[in-house]
Amino acid sequence: MTLPASLRWAGDHLELLDQRKLPESIVFLQLTTWEEVVDAIASMAVRGAPAIGIAAAWGVVLAAQSGDDLSSAIRALRASRPTAVNLGWALNRMQAVIASTGPVDSDSLAVVAAELQRQDCLMTQRLVDHGVSLLDQGCRVLHHCHTGAIATAGVGTALGVVSAAHARGALRHVWLDETRPRLQGAALSAWELGCLAVPCTVIVDGASGLLMRRGEVDAVMVGCDRVAANGDVANKIGTYNLALVARAHGIPFYVCAPGSSIDRTTPDGDAITIEERDAQEITHVQGLSVAAPGAQAWNPAFDITPAHLVTALITEFGVLRPPYREAIGVLPLPNQP
Ligand code: MRU
Repeated sequence: MTLPASLRWAGDHLELLDQRKLPESIVFLQLTTWEEVVDAIASMAVRGAPAIGIAAAWGVVLAAQSGDDLSSAIRALRASRPTAVNLGWALNRMQAVIASTGPVDSDSLAVVAAELQRQDCLMTQRLVDHGVSLLDQGCRVLHHCHTGAIATAGVGTALGVVSAAHARGALRHVWLDETRPRLQGAALSAWELGCLAVPCTVIVDGASGLLMRRGEVDAVMVGCDRVAANGDVANKIGTYNLALVARAHGIPFYVCAPGSSIDRTTPDGDAITIEERDAQEITHVQGLSVAAPGAQAWNPAFDITPAHLVTALITEFGVLRPPYREAIGVLPLPNQP
């Protein structure tokens, strides 16, 4: 089955795949205002760092189309989720065009948003081409969260690498962390790999240690929401635990990071804001309480994996190896110091 696109500009509004409805149904939201885009990002109708960046860019176009104050719209879009730097990547570019040309019409901004979307397609495809070279024939890969095509405007990042390895006949199996609490692995990654006929098995997040101990994993491949200047990685909660277990078993831990997720202005992982979401995401499943009445829950959406646990960073520029500060420092990232 062909995968639906995560988003599409429909001439005067944004058509957005509602990822909350997957895998049960493929529903597209028709967004006509920037406020709706803010809500779609915050409520995770659209999710995945690259996809939210592109959606935000189209949000600015919608603001211009309605004659709304662009600075307010950009501020709200930027704040819609705090951890993924891809929002800043896209919105800074939109802002730069607005600042350099004065009052701009929505058509000119649509050209910029479309260009960012095209860049995301190019970046992810190049990243996948580099990443697939790291996977040996017959490899078994463990993946966390969801990083496939619909988390981007292109072919995905870590899951794109996995799918490409499958297409080349190099992949034996994929283990998918279910990824509590939002279950992106069980719902989205299993659905996407199912559509592409890639053999995969969902596991609970805590099963990775046993699997590695049994020798069933050859590599871990994950995405990211922000990579700091020193190579520390913010990604879906549970990534750090996975990196520690992988290190304990001598298994390579690869992080796929398009340039839009790399932030040289953030010195290290401690400087990254970790989004904390509603405790109900933990205490309830599909509206039903699964926790003891009154139980408190803490719900950080991301964690930080220190650079020393990362075997390689896979980017569209190539595969980066430690020391990351030096490797990241020379990347041709426009508009970064
Ligand atoms: O909260 P989410 O589902 O947006 O988190 C997504 C992740 O952590 C992904 O690994 C990351 O955004 C990379 S998507 C290519």
